[in-house]
Amino acid sequence: MCGIVGYVGEKQALEVVVAGLRRLEYRGYDSAGVAVIADGELQTRKRAGKLINLEDLLGEDPLPQSTNGIGHTRWATHGAPNDVNAHPHISSDGRVAVIHNGIIENFSELRAELEATGIAMMSETDSEVAAHLVAVELAVDPDDLVGAVQRVCQRLTGAFTLVISHADHPDMVVGARRNSPLVVGVGKGENFLASDVAAFIAHTREAIELGQDQIVILRSERVDVTDFYGNPAEVNPYTVTWDASAAEKGGYDLFMLKEIAEQPKAVADTLLGRVDGAGRLLLDSITLSDEELRSIDKIVIIACGTAYHSGMIAKYAIEHWTRVPTEVELASEFRYRDPILSPRTLVIAISQSGETMDTLMAMRHAREQGSKVLAICNTQGSTIPRESDAAVYTHAGPEIAVASTKAFLTQVVACYLVALYLAQVRGDRNPEEIRAIADDLVNMPSKIDLMLDTTEGVRGIAREFANSTSVLFIGRHVGFPVALEGALKLKELAYMHAEGFAAGELKHGPIALLEDGMPVVVIVPSPRGRDVIHEKIISNILEVRARGARTIVIAEEGDEIVTPYADWIIRTPECPSLFQPLLATVPLQVFACELATTKGHDVDQPRNLAKSVTVE
Ligand code: G6P
Repeated sequence: MCGIVGYVGEKQALEVVVAGLRRLEYRGYDSAGVAVIADGELQTRKRAGKLINLEDLLGEDPLPQSTNGIGHTRWATHGAPNDVNAHPHISSDGRVAVIHNGIIENFSELRAELEATGIAMMSETDSEVAAHLVAVELAVDPDDLVGAVQRVCQRLTGAFTLVISHADHPDMVVGARRNSPLVVGVGKGENFLASDVAAFIAHTREAIELGQDQIVILRSERVDVTDFYGNPAEVNPYTVTWDASAAEKGGYDLFMLKEIAEQPKAVADTLLGRVDGAGRLLLDSITLSDEELRSIDKIVIIACGTAYHSGMIAKYAIEHWTRVPTEVELASEFRYRDPILSPRTLVIAISQSGETMDTLMAMRHAREQGSKVLAICNTQGSTIPRESDAAVYTHAGPEIAVASTKAFLTQVVACYLVALYLAQVRGDRNPEEIRAIADDLVNMPSKIDLMLDTTEGVRGIAREFANSTSVLFIGRHVGFPVALEGALKLKELAYMHAEGFAAGELKHGPIALLEDGMPVVVIVPSPRGRDVIHEKIISNILEVRARGARTIVIAEEGDEIVTPYADWIIRTPECPSLFQPLLATVPLQVFACELATTKGHDVDQPRNLAKSVTVE
């Protein structure tokens, strides 16, 4: 949600900033803008729409060479996505440029205060007030840009990453963060600020995490970090484990296609080093003591979007292996219903980005109530794992396509690992049982690889439905969250009406939606598992076919019972029932991707969405 880049160094700032924005465009693409300082003047260009529009503008109306630049790609919150509301915002004297991610909650009061002094606002954004406030504060001491930013930050409420440049200070860019992401890239003779390391990974892999309520002063030769009052702050440097090629399309037409294909490796990387030769789980990063884990009497999983679906799958595994009662809750709802939490509740927060504000606020609430929080996250240095009591990282690598694929599969795997680890520590399962389950889990990457062989067939099936207005997905047990995820993918990418249901629930209402020819995707559990579930879903298939539905069935190899009831069938290799989501989700991703492509949609950047949503 909004991508931010700042640069000070010897290279052409504009080139560095625009290239960084290209890598951050997944964060928002409602408008884009840049500012550079040259010959003592601040110059900006901004344009509504995707980055390409800004690049066209820069072609028509170039900016001068500069060693200081900032840039922004926007996901609109306050004010329509037009040229005027695009960032950077400039103070009335034309000397201060500000870019912002987040929501300044007290902006109306600040705006009124500024307007009362005769300052005219140009835009409808909350962000613009920050530019004017910095200019006002600079009047106190025009040489002290940092002091001015500090005083402004002290007055703002809400969530903000601000990056500020000033025409009289071409040697520096100042950044500030509260509840919104900002990382520093440390180069040689150049330094970077960005919402995400992807923006500067082509230049350096050395990064610094910024803490809550910190200000960073970026110069070409040094980086200083303080709190909002100017006190030096402790920083946490780290080296990014992936390189620039990981954030490229690598020969694929779409990031999503590349990320679907990367799933076997992403899952293997997430398992790497976490199960030893004796089938014992090794999760050193769970820094909670065995005693704490043994005392847990309830688990609450909080997450949003696709991550929420991985949490739903986790519930089945955790309760089955540990018998600890487990709830799954949408993070955006969690804290508003006065949840029952205690020091014996373990809260698991699942988030690809580690920045989702709904999840962050929910976990903070849980910690305030004395519960321990374990984060499952894909982004090193992000806020959610940093504020958690323990973290298990998924190793999916950067996920650029807005619709999540490989991050989802690795989240599911991380949940299985956590569940098994709990069972091991608490003695809920004996070592032989855990070893057998862990062995099966370690075999999953090669089975996911086999699912990629179904891609062409699935694309063909998808194209049959380009004119359908509605698609239903049904499943039972862990197939239910898979159905929800399949429907979400289709909504996100193909902008089609799609719904996922627990197959047994269909007859209690949703079956009224069925019309002749309507596609229904059925996730069929293994007949080798609990027969009763397999039998029941066959009945559900019969119910929908009796009402004219066309069925696309995802079923295990060798399950011939279901064959007569399938108009199309996609086979999954045999695996334990609980692991089926790792296989059954793959064709649903391909299905949605192909339908969106057939309809001519932008698969990697669907309309209205952003990859990480840093507002509530
Ligand atoms: C956004 C994205 C979704 C994602 C959700 C949670 O809404 O568009 O794809 O699942 O956020 O993101 P997180 O980073 O917390 O997993």
